[in-house]
Amino acid sequence: MKPIRIGLLGAGVVASGVAQVLARNQAEIKRRAGRGIEIARVGVRNVDKARAALGAEIELTTDLDALVRMEDIDIVVELIGGTTRARELVLAAIDAGKHVVTANKALLAVHGTEIFAAACRKGVMVAFEAAVAGGIPIIKALREGLTANRIQWIAGIINGTTNFILSEMRSKGLDFDVVLKEAQRLGYAEADPTFDIEGIDAAHKVTIMSAIAFGIPMQFDKAYVEGITRLQATDITYAEQLGYRIKLLGITKRRAEGIELRVHPTLVPAKRLIANVEGAMNAVVVHGDAVGSTLYYGKGAGSEPTASAVVADLVDVTRLHTADPDHRVPHLAFQPDALDDAPI
Ligand code: HSE
Repeated sequence: MKPIRIGLLGAGVVASGVAQVLARNQAEIKRRAGRGIEIARVGVRNVDKARAALGAEIELTTDLDALVRMEDIDIVVELIGGTTRARELVLAAIDAGKHVVTANKALLAVHGTEIFAAACRKGVMVAFEAAVAGGIPIIKALREGLTANRIQWIAGIINGTTNFILSEMRSKGLDFDVVLKEAQRLGYAEADPTFDIEGIDAAHKVTIMSAIAFGIPMQFDKAYVEGITRLQATDITYAEQLGYRIKLLGITKRRAEGIELRVHPTLVPAKRLIANVEGAMNAVVVHGDAVGSTLYYGKGAGSEPTASAVVADLVDVTRLHTADPDHRVPHLAFQPDALDDAPI
């Protein structure tokens, strides 16, 4: 069978991670997907820069609008980030009958309801494992592994940059600005690091988890969001002396009044597993009525950890597309089932 063909938007750290993982694990991926997965073209802004990041063989184009509609592309992988241009391109890809894989949490948290509705109408898949907690398969856990449960709450460290900053400030006594620069150098931070340090990135991710877990629409605008910029070194020291660690948590909880959706620095008892998650690592606790508490831990940012989730989605979409090429069965569609259950 011919390989499935990918149109990749973006040539940044995650895109090069995807190219590397697909090339390095080609044989296993082909076996698991049932056919090869080939990057047919990459849409970029700057061809020279992209050439250096992705190598000589990959075909590049600067015409992203044409790329998402190309006849010979089966799946569009959106890795450009941002919400305006990404929304246009993703909706255009869906309109052209392409499946979409995206790592873009801001896009889904803000425009997810529109995008999923368009995908459902068209019968195409939108997969987004990489949008939340990087390499941790938390979306699959919520949708598949825990599907028998009524989820009661989710709490997680879902922003690597802020966890890295808080860890380095506590353990090494380093200044906020110094550690933020290091997080940027290591490629953890967003293009606009305000999104990390003000809790916005974590709010995007908890919005997505909340929607999947509770079957509600994406309601980022309803989230309570507080970042770490007002924390002082003394807060961290005092917390330590009292037996706590300060962690930026994303929390969503089912309550009688509705669904809670919030991000803020939280005092976590130092003995808890999640209090000991250090550096740019992520950890998410999900509590279901049948299973109780489950914990997911791993790298939430970076090139190959994020690529691991993107490629997992590519394998899933390839399998489902190959089994049902006419898109007769809705797969990987997210449709809220409790429209009035808005976050409080
Ligand atoms: N800026 C994000 C983080 C990248 O630090 O977690 C991964 O979404």
